[in-house]
Amino acid sequence: MSTLPKTLTLDTSTSRANPTPQPMKRLTVPRIRQRKGGEPLVMLTAYTVRQAQLLDPHCDMLLVGDSLAQVIYGLPHTVGVTMEMMALHGAAVVRGSYHAAVIVDMPFGSYEGSPEQAFDNAARLLKETGAAAVKVEGGRVLAPTIEFLTQRGIPVMGHVGLTPQAVNILGGYGVRGKSEEEARAIVDDAVAVAQAGAFSIVIEGVLESIAIEITGKVACPTIGIGASAQCDGQVLVTDDMLGMFERVPKFVKRYQDMSGVISGAVKEYADQVRSRSFPTPDQIYAG
Ligand code: KIV
Repeated sequence: MSTLPKTLTLDTSTSRANPTPQPMKRLTVPRIRQRKGGEPLVMLTAYTVRQAQLLDPHCDMLLVGDSLAQVIYGLPHTVGVTMEMMALHGAAVVRGSYHAAVIVDMPFGSYEGSPEQAFDNAARLLKETGAAAVKVEGGRVLAPTIEFLTQRGIPVMGHVGLTPQAVNILGGYGVRGKSEEEARAIVDDAVAVAQAGAFSIVIEGVLESIAIEITGKVACPTIGIGASAQCDGQVLVTDDMLGMFERVPKFVKRYQDMSGVISGAVKEYADQVRSRSFPTPDQIYAG
């Protein structure tokens, strides 16, 4: 159990954010479900309070993805992510957002053992973060667990196709569904997850025809990543789309070059410190 305080609202007296975001009514899981076939759903990953503050006005959903393994912690893959990490980052993102629904990834090993194990860990994540829902990776084999959770008050987002937590089985992050047999299995997985009660399903790294078929077959919204513009919404890893990394998957569009912006600013600072042109009189407390 985490020993940090579980404040679910932002302490505006200590926040550096200015202006403070105005509280708005949060998007709910039923309203997300109603968006099937309607205006596309916008989802991005968020891991910190400031990131959440900046993304929240523009997004329908913020995903506290276990991609924080690579993005925040420098781990080689998501297998090493813990419940503690997801609980702490999830709570930070809830504190920094007022509008988007926050969904927290369940880490590898926290839900596959049994529906009861999944319930205990999902309930802990919702209690400690204030998030609206959890996300789990997997298909038909996970359907009974998804049904168990949804029938007990825990909204679940599914995740099929390329499921990064299975990297040790898959052997990498290549596109899924190239053979007829694998394509059929992915569609069957998505249908089973939807029938089990998932309110939405992420489809990652599959041939476009598979994403289109799933989107046409399931009653809940599909969220594509490396899938198809025909999905009911899209998600990207925020740090990828902002250009924080040099190497990104083919399906990522880099909307900014943040690594260039940061390097430029830090170089200027370093140059100014070395030439004693920073701090200037404006930045000094003169006696
Ligand atoms: O962990 C994550 O960021 C994800 C998205 C890539 C869908 O699962």
